[in-house]
Amino acid sequence: MHTPKLFEPLSVGSLELANRIVIAPMCQYSAVDGCMTDWHLMHLGQLAASGAALLTIEATAVVPEGRISHADVGLWDDATEAAMGRTLQAIRQWSDMPIAIQLAHAGRKASTEVPWCGGAQIAPGDPNGWQTVAPSAKAYLPDERPPEAMDRSAMIAVRDAFAESASRSARLGIDAIQIHAAHGYLLHQFLSPLSNQRDDEYGGSLENRMRFPLEIMDAVRDAFPADRPVSVRVSGTDWVDGGWDLEQTIAFSRALEARGCAAIHVSSGGLDPAQSIPVGPSYQVPLARGVKQAVSIPVIAVGLITDYEQAEAIVGTGDADLVALARGILYDPRWPWHAAAHLGASVSVPNQYLRSQPRTFPKLFK
Ligand SMILES: Cc1cc2nc3c(=O)[nH]c(=O)nc-3n(C[C@H](O)[C@H](O)[C@H](O)COP(=O)(O)O)c2cc1C
Repeated sequence: MHTPKLFEPLSVGSLELANRIVIAPMCQYSAVDGCMTDWHLMHLGQLAASGAALLTIEATAVVPEGRISHADVGLWDDATEAAMGRTLQAIRQWSDMPIAIQLAHAGRKASTEVPWCGGAQIAPGDPNGWQTVAPSAKAYLPDERPPEAMDRSAMIAVRDAFAESASRSARLGIDAIQIHAAHGYLLHQFLSPLSNQRDDEYGGSLENRMRFPLEIMDAVRDAFPADRPVSVRVSGTDWVDGGWDLEQTIAFSRALEARGCAAIHVSSGGLDPAQSIPVGPSYQVPLARGVKQAVSIPVIAVGLITDYEQAEAIVGTGDADLVALARGILYDPRWPWHAAAHLGASVSVPNQYLRSQPRTFPKLFK
């Protein structure tokens, strides 16, 4: 029987993925002092039974002030490591889905309220707020308190924190790391000329703006076992004239590949409120295609990929090697089962659910 491309296995570095569907990182704003809670067990637990190839843990802050909000997950000390370890141990008892973690620092977009309470910036004096940092003292929104421009020692501390979180991830048995360099957070702030106005060797030319994110790549790669992949999530464009764009993303992706990056995950936007995004099905796929044509490591497309045929077409035509789902898999946590049924493939399911095998798809479950 012909296997649809969406259900063909793929290796990312030495990590073997059962199919081409990955679960994108999704902040849950449900942690306490950086520690995962029972919500994370429920949330990640149900997604670990979805039949996708890889589960990515939400943006996980490498230092407390790198959290988007006070309720973000972190991995910066023994307490945060233990909380994540407890969640992972419970999930692993019942699921063999590989697990990746997105390591992040929010930079000037940190210290905000959780989205369902409005998401506004919180001032440093408030118990849930702190002073933000960034490449330059330029706020995201004009009425926000500006971040402090990072000096070299602040940058070294953040680089070392990424490495430390990578070591903790390795100790937790996490299968892959995704470095968050997208969506206007700290590393993207270094990359984009709209947020990086430094006049040292970390600002100005493209080479200079890429320098700090590449140092993070090197530090994480060194700290994580060589047989486990490190990938990077990028914004393929700021969607603002004069900002970060596809051409620079391609140069960055090539530099990452040369440093041992195992995959590039291509999202977009988030850096500048002036962005004008042509939102629609597959709207970021052209950016993934552009990167895919320039590198030889796997490329992941994301953004309003909701339909089974649409996903099959993206990997089938070679626009990307994998698709990532976020909102679509929250809406339908069995999306990979339904895609398999629709396309005539099969997925792994927990033994406990085998009896849900529909009679019309005799080979849906492996
Ligand atoms: C609830 C929620 C939380 C998110 N959190 C993160 C995150 O932690 N890190 C990240 O890079 N993107 C995050 N995103 C963006 C998604 O990973 C994804 O790129 C975006 O939603 C577009 O994909 P979709 O159309 O399949 O939802 C989040 C999106 C949602 C809906």
